[in-house]
Amino acid sequence: MKIPLYRAYTDKGDVRKVSSVLKRGLNWAIGPEVTEFERTVAAYVGRKYAVSFNSGTSALHATMLALRVKEGDEVIVPSFTFIATANAALFVRASPVFADIERVTYGLDPDSAEKSITRRTKVVVPVHIGGIVCRYAGELESLGRERKLLVVEDACEALGATARGRSGGTYGDVSVLSFCANKLISTGEGGMVLTDRKDIYERLKLVGSHGRPDKIPYFNSSASSDYVELGFNWRMSSMTAALGISQMRKLERAIQLRRKVAKMLNSRLSGVTEVDAPVEPPGFRHTYQMYTIRVKGGRKDRDGLNGFLSSRGITSKVYFDPIHRTKFYREMLGRRAPRLPATDWVSSRVLTIPVYPSMTAKEVDYVADSVKTFFDRRN
Ligand SMILES: Cc1ncc(COP(=O)(O)O)c(C=O)c1O
Repeated sequence: MKIPLYRAYTDKGDVRKVSSVLKRGLNWAIGPEVTEFERTVAAYVGRKYAVSFNSGTSALHATMLALRVKEGDEVIVPSFTFIATANAALFVRASPVFADIERVTYGLDPDSAEKSITRRTKVVVPVHIGGIVCRYAGELESLGRERKLLVVEDACEALGATARGRSGGTYGDVSVLSFCANKLISTGEGGMVLTDRKDIYERLKLVGSHGRPDKIPYFNSSASSDYVELGFNWRMSSMTAALGISQMRKLERAIQLRRKVAKMLNSRLSGVTEVDAPVEPPGFRHTYQMYTIRVKGGRKDRDGLNGFLSSRGITSKVYFDPIHRTKFYREMLGRRAPRLPATDWVSSRVLTIPVYPSMTAKEVDYVADSVKTFFDRRN
């Protein structure tokens, strides 16, 4: 049996929706689907404004530009996240400052974040890992407010996740989503920024589309446009947005199915004392964008399990090795490397195993049995 780490949740509706734009032969860029997709996501999450991008990374970069984060500024980020979270600060020549995480949902630890604040701090970036809202997202939002910092929520992995009735994507000044291949809804590649602030929304539109105030439909107008600042082309295509619209129709169903699969895995793995299943604190809705187990024995056992699963045709992966331990950041930080004990502890034990909406009970059994077999053989 071959079991991938993730598989897109797709149907004929996706094909129809994308085909309709293709067949139209018009407005493949800046088409009506782009605005419709933005409105759909903003309404679902509960934010006033949304701007789509061609990736979560460009959405993060645009956010830093829109907030005028610049050289000399410091941006507090976790090291236990995808590298783009920290790179976004570097893109605008600011400095990422790594703070530690908590050990339940693996989000930023507000005490560590607070200790990292200096006169230069401009932004703090809470990240939700693998489909669960960071346990202290509310506290981090308050910290930002009290210390007059901007809060950028990296909600790339948290579309549809809620905590005490509040949705991922509604914390802080700006929230960033990704629609890359392993997310709850996917457009292949894609991203979006959500905000309630009109000024930020307008700047996002500018920096993501050549610094051009798009007052006229650019490709359909005989009038000229002006360019008012330096900008990029980070726009999402109309075909991509069409796929996003159709994927959004399936989001709640995808979450239900993922939760069902996760529940099966929880029960199959409950007898394997060598691992901890992911935690869903009371009042939280985990979407299981990732199903990450923790191997109690530490790195050697975890890496052994990863190799064993691979030999049985099952893809598992470490999400995440800490950013500050990558070659690029090690060389950049040199002796300024941070001490992050919880980050090191968590990242040496985690292993993400397959969960996707169409996963069958047979596949779940095979994965769970394989985890069990690894430890049985070793003991
Ligand atoms: C937490 C986090 N931040 C940022 C990104 C970057 O998004 P993208 O891959 O769409 O550029 C991702 C997605 O991979 C992510 O998981």
